[in-house]
Amino acid sequence: MKPYAPYEGSRSGAAVPTQEDKTVSSIASVLEESRVFPPSAAFVAKAGLDADRLAALHAEAEADFTAFWGRLAKENLHWQTPFRQVLDDSQAPNYRWFADGKTNVSVNCLDRHLGSQGDKLAIRFEGEKGDVRTYTYKQLHAEVCKLANAIKSLGVQVGDRVVIYLPHSAEAVIAMQACARIGATHSVVFGGFSASSLKDRIEDAGAKLVITADGGWRGGNIVELKKAVDEALSAGGPSITKVIVLKRTDHGVPMVAGRDLWWHELLATQSERCEPEWVDAEHPLFLLYTSGSTGKPKGIQHSTGGYLLGAHLSAQWVFDLKPDDVFWCTADVGWITGHSYVAYGPLSNGATVMIYEGAPTVPDAGRFWKIAQEHGVTIFYTAPTAIRALMKLGEEWPNKYDLSKLRLLGSVGEPINPEAWMWYHRVIGKEKLPIVDTWWQTETGAIMIAPVPGAVPTKPGSCTKPLPGIFTAIVDETGEPVTAPGQGGYLVITKPWPSMLRTIWGDNARYRSAYWGQFNNKYYVAGDGAHIDADGYHWIMGRVDDVLNVSGHRLGTMEVESALVSHPRVAEAAVVGRPHEVKGEAVFAFVILKGQRPTGAEADALVKELREHVAKQIGAIAKPDDIRLADGLPKTRSGKIMRRLLRSIAKGEDITQDISTLENPAIVAQLAGRG
Ligand code: WT7
Repeated sequence: MKPYAPYEGSRSGAAVPTQEDKTVSSIASVLEESRVFPPSAAFVAKAGLDADRLAALHAEAEADFTAFWGRLAKENLHWQTPFRQVLDDSQAPNYRWFADGKTNVSVNCLDRHLGSQGDKLAIRFEGEKGDVRTYTYKQLHAEVCKLANAIKSLGVQVGDRVVIYLPHSAEAVIAMQACARIGATHSVVFGGFSASSLKDRIEDAGAKLVITADGGWRGGNIVELKKAVDEALSAGGPSITKVIVLKRTDHGVPMVAGRDLWWHELLATQSERCEPEWVDAEHPLFLLYTSGSTGKPKGIQHSTGGYLLGAHLSAQWVFDLKPDDVFWCTADVGWITGHSYVAYGPLSNGATVMIYEGAPTVPDAGRFWKIAQEHGVTIFYTAPTAIRALMKLGEEWPNKYDLSKLRLLGSVGEPINPEAWMWYHRVIGKEKLPIVDTWWQTETGAIMIAPVPGAVPTKPGSCTKPLPGIFTAIVDETGEPVTAPGQGGYLVITKPWPSMLRTIWGDNARYRSAYWGQFNNKYYVAGDGAHIDADGYHWIMGRVDDVLNVSGHRLGTMEVESALVSHPRVAEAAVVGRPHEVKGEAVFAFVILKGQRPTGAEADALVKELREHVAKQIGAIAKPDDIRLADGLPKTRSGKIMRRLLRSIAKGEDITQDISTLENPAIVAQLAGRG
């Protein structure tokens, strides 16, 4: 059993099944966390959805979930050609939603607000160095149209893939919206990924164009984006014909003649009008690569109509968006959270979006709260890892600033431990603001399980209940729902939903097996363990597959292992997660070398080199926190690595497991650092 318990002692873990030991324990969890926080009367009074309206939505969805989504799609989105069929399940689990309808995402996010609120701010941007730039809906629309025209002029057509590798910026949103406008499928690659990761993604997507910047600011340093693009394309990159380069850091990057074009020069001559391309609802809006349990990241393919509906409604329901809100989701656009709650959901609702480029501690630990004060942020959405990091820096930092405009707080990316939840509640929320803990995934496209803040009381550490139209279950390994409250099992989604992934780019077989194979196409398997308490509240226990969650970022253990074994001195590697106070999980690697195992300073130098090697292969987020060099891995006689044992060792636990079946039991002491 994978002991997912990054926050020892905060709450007891329910039994979580793992791939490894396919037994679902029936040990019921004893929940220590029993505090309940109902929304304040003041919040409820103004909330878009109160308990009655929420109950009505649930009832409508339960009665007929396709009719429910059909009604909402008609009422909430602009359709150039209305759809007649809501759900096509003839190729299940390749579901299609609103398939004969045509729409355009950028029209829904921009054009439809121009008449009513064209002069309202769509984006408030602040760079790490303090530069501020704002865009009204009209201005944003104009910039998107100019870039869309520019991209078209470079030969990009409907369905072509465009890789976006930009700093977290207004321009990143402009680039995404511009692709959407002309029906190009974007694939945003997080700026923290290495040249080598970027290259893999460009190749897998078969992208024609890259949109990048000379650099971005992060932690006082320049992130060398253009340099990484040059490196990624140096070995050919046959599909790429052009690179658009935004001038951001202006530190003099070389431009490749005939391939590289400056954003500002290219846009200078473009029209501020661009007719949108009306695409099928199923047209791929974007690919976003994420880690799975094998070495190769998967290109998660999202649709146009269904995706937008999910992003739009979840933003409205969970964040209670109002016309005067300033919504700040701190996630980079390189992640799904930045797609759905920076680039698409809030804009389609006509809200004002805050974007901050840099690190939370530049120039000091008060930066986030200073931004919240100065930009009048009303809704703040971040990750538990950030909350824990800010919490460690001390409450004097938030206390220096006026946070009185805040009215709602959110959390995403990993289970939030009750200590962090209570700090968020007390120090940032002044014990008044609702906290929405939102469970979802790159694959789900939009928030799935979360409290509707004016209607659902919260419990620290629980993401509460599924949103209307989302149907979940906790099942055992035979697929039977577990019924006893608190009993752990696999979290599954039992009915299709509009914003669900459509496939894995170029590998539909993998889509079908990875998400639907386990229970014979009956359920979407999320890959998380969870349990439901007597009130129907969901408690997520973490991944049950070989996926780590490091600072809210998803990493495949095999991805890190492949990066390690690509180093000439490494023969074999096994990577596991270990609990980490701030990051949630840290990367712990056991490495077997070719030839003699060094000790002392030589070993230290090699460990350092291996960490850098992983950063170079994948990106800094994947750098192992610990590397232990050893002579062998614990393997069963059939040659299977006993990861469970490695996880115990990484946690520093005493080994109480039976190791008599190991081929090499003596190795255990050495792996534990005692040999
Ligand atoms: C995995 C998905 C889309 C959110 C950003 C991460 C974990 C996400 C929560 C939460 C407990 C959570 C799950 C999930 N996760 N939100 N509120 N409580 N766990 O997206 O990279 O696709 O990772 O993040 O383990 O499977 P992602």
